[in-house]
Amino acid sequence: MVVTTNSAPASGVGRRRVTILGSTGSVGAQTVDLVARDPERFPVEALTANRNVALLADQAKRLHARLAVVADPSGHAELKERLAGTGIETAAGPQAVVEAAARPADWVMAAIVGFAGLEPTLAAIRRGAIVAFANKEVLVCAGAFMMEEVRAHGATLLPVDSEHSAIYQVFDFARPESVAKLILTASGGPFRSKDRAFMATATREQAVAHPTWDMGAKISVDSATLMNKGLELIEAHFLFDVPEERIDVLVHPQSVIHSLVEYVDGSVLAQLGTPDMRTPIAYALGWPARLATPAERLDLTKTATLTFEPPDPDRFPALRLTRAALQSGGGAPTILSAANEVAVQAFLDRKIGFLDIERIVEGTLTALPHRPLRDLDAVREADAEARRDAAARVPACGATAVGSR
Ligand SMILES: NC(=O)c1ccc[n+]([C@@H]2O[C@H](COP(=O)([O-])OP(=O)(O)OC[C@H]3O[C@@H](n4cnc5c(N)ncnc54)[C@H](OP(=O)(O)O)[C@@H]3O)[C@@H](O)[C@H]2O)c1
Repeated sequence: MVVTTNSAPASGVGRRRVTILGSTGSVGAQTVDLVARDPERFPVEALTANRNVALLADQAKRLHARLAVVADPSGHAELKERLAGTGIETAAGPQAVVEAAARPADWVMAAIVGFAGLEPTLAAIRRGAIVAFANKEVLVCAGAFMMEEVRAHGATLLPVDSEHSAIYQVFDFARPESVAKLILTASGGPFRSKDRAFMATATREQAVAHPTWDMGAKISVDSATLMNKGLELIEAHFLFDVPEERIDVLVHPQSVIHSLVEYVDGSVLAQLGTPDMRTPIAYALGWPARLATPAERLDLTKTATLTFEPPDPDRFPALRLTRAALQSGGGAPTILSAANEVAVQAFLDRKIGFLDIERIVEGTLTALPHRPLRDLDAVREADAEARRDAAARVPACGATAVGSR
């Protein structure tokens, strides 16, 4: 049964109470800006952050949020001080983030990065909310389980990743058997035309300098390794119930075509736009209505050329690793995602070199058993075990770190 669908009542949306998980991040802050354009229509229940108390407090005041939550408890005193006299409630700690997601908002933006987003996203799903879904690691680490929860609680998942938003807009949910394949486009990242020798000495600054998108640090590094596209492949598999072998990846450096669906008759439908995350965020915020955004309009006469090339599996092994993890099934994608989070953080902390990321992910994925994941505890255990294994691999890579000395 397909649980995702783009069919919705023809009427537009009226007032919609919103919660933004990860409001201080790249996706979160862009969501705040869109919500702030129409505060009457989008009153705010809760905003959450990890540590960025100053921005969180500013956002909460600007949007007149009912609740502001900081996941790191050491930030609570400062948050209370900054919001004193405003009437805005405050809370702190990971459980408070979950409770924020459980409060009655019609629409929840899931924009926490990584595994930390799992339980808050689940809390929103279990209320049957409309969940705008940016936090792809959640579907990668617990895809089958999450989709079962969506089904059981009648929640609505609206993809926010530009690729999945594109597919969502052109996918025939009434006739899924007519879909031949999904084609995910990829910019190719900052190292698209670089060789392995260059990548071996690539710095943090070079890896996060994405050519077309302005994003958080983790997803920027994932784009440089192409792991981001691998995670998106797994996300697409769960969201659209399409097997891995019918999901292709196409490098398209201009990031104008956001993804495509090929049908059995040979028709290919695509969604296009300038590379601006406010467009897919607004699509989810207004769904099923469309909201006006300040995003630059697409002018194909100025775009001049659109180019395409296949991804290079030798320079970018991440796609092979993600396909292998999806084929292996069970906890393999959970292990892959957890090891990748540990390795990317170690690279951002300048403890390992860029190419060590793939070595650590492959090492952990090969070393650990891919057990079936029957429940949330099994997901947590697989994640924790993979983090321990990946962390143990970091010191041995230390000698190849760039910019650490
Ligand atoms: N950025 C994009 O354009 C884009 C596009 C498509 C999909 N995505 C996906 O969207 C998600 C967010 O990406 P992003 O680029 O917006 O990331 P980001 O800029 O790093 O922001 C992450 C957000 O999560 C919060 N956070 C981090 N660790 C947390 C924890 N342990 N507990 C609670 N909150 C925590 C951060 O709070 P602090 O600010 O306090 O650290 C911040 O609000 C990722 O899964 C990414 O793959 C992003």
